Amino acid sequence: MLEGRSLIEPGNFSLEETEGLFALAEKIENDDTFLRGSCGGKLLATLFFEPSTRTRLSFEAAMLRLGGSCLGFADPGSSSAAKGESLADTVRMAASYADAIVMRNPKEGAALLASRYSPVPVINAGDGGHHHPTQTLTDLLTIRRLRGGVKDLVVGYCGDLKFGRTVHSLAKALSRYENISMIFISPEELTPPEYIVRHLQKSNVEFREIRSLEEAMPHLDVLYMTRVQRERFFNEEDYIRLKDTYILNEEKMALGKKELVVLHPLPRVNEIAVEVDDDPRAAYFKQAKYGMYVRMALLSSILGVSGA
Ligand code: CP
Repeated sequence: MLEGRSLIEPGNFSLEETEGLFALAEKIENDDTFLRGSCGGKLLATLFFEPSTRTRLSFEAAMLRLGGSCLGFADPGSSSAAKGESLADTVRMAASYADAIVMRNPKEGAALLASRYSPVPVINAGDGGHHHPTQTLTDLLTIRRLRGGVKDLVVGYCGDLKFGRTVHSLAKALSRYENISMIFISPEELTPPEYIVRHLQKSNVEFREIRSLEEAMPHLDVLYMTRVQRERFFNEEDYIRLKDTYILNEEKMALGKKELVVLHPLPRVNEIAVEVDDDPRAAYFKQAKYGMYVRMALLSSILGVSGA
């Protein structure tokens, strides 16, 4: 049962619970009327201390489609955080008005802290370079829909794997599935953090780290491209030096398998050339739409109205 539960990182829900959400999301996708109106009278607080398009809007769309309402802020400058209010107090206030909280914050661990002060469920919509578990639900649902299941796959992650919270959450979540091997493609400076490497080792996941996207392409079933994130760098020079290390274009796509699925959490900057958008293997816009269905499944479950 997910009713009343927070989601801070992918491991908070069991594999069975996660799969249950996907089954629910698929029902919602296939039947426009399923769960419509089920969140009538419920309120969702969206507290975004960092910019967002997909996560915030898809959560709001999900809540509105379920018949609920939303309140919150997209700019911390318009909240009392700008006057020095602590995160704990902001969360206490939101919890006294709303039935659930979705929060994005630049500080790693902020969502966990928020969940300790909140009597209502807290969903982590990204905490710094740490985790982004609802993006992972989106990614897994997309893989499941486009590959017919999540097993027997070689998954490549490319770009900023050090600060890329979507990569950390997805790698951790995929380590629970059968026969998944991973290739991490990044510059030396942006390799995955030690805690992710240790987790994969402990979970007996086969993985390797390489520098060349061309070398990886022929082996991949799923390619997860990511943006080099200017906002995570302390030094602008390093960002400029690394930002265009990998650019997926038609030439590189020609090295990939016919059934390859190309994902990207978005937003993209230069790392996927627009010419790739017309390739049938480019799935990143579909992926963003699956995000709304899985967030509908998540909200209806934690608010106890899904019947699951
Ligand atoms: N994927 C994702 O988190 O996108 P936004 O930053 O637009 O929410």
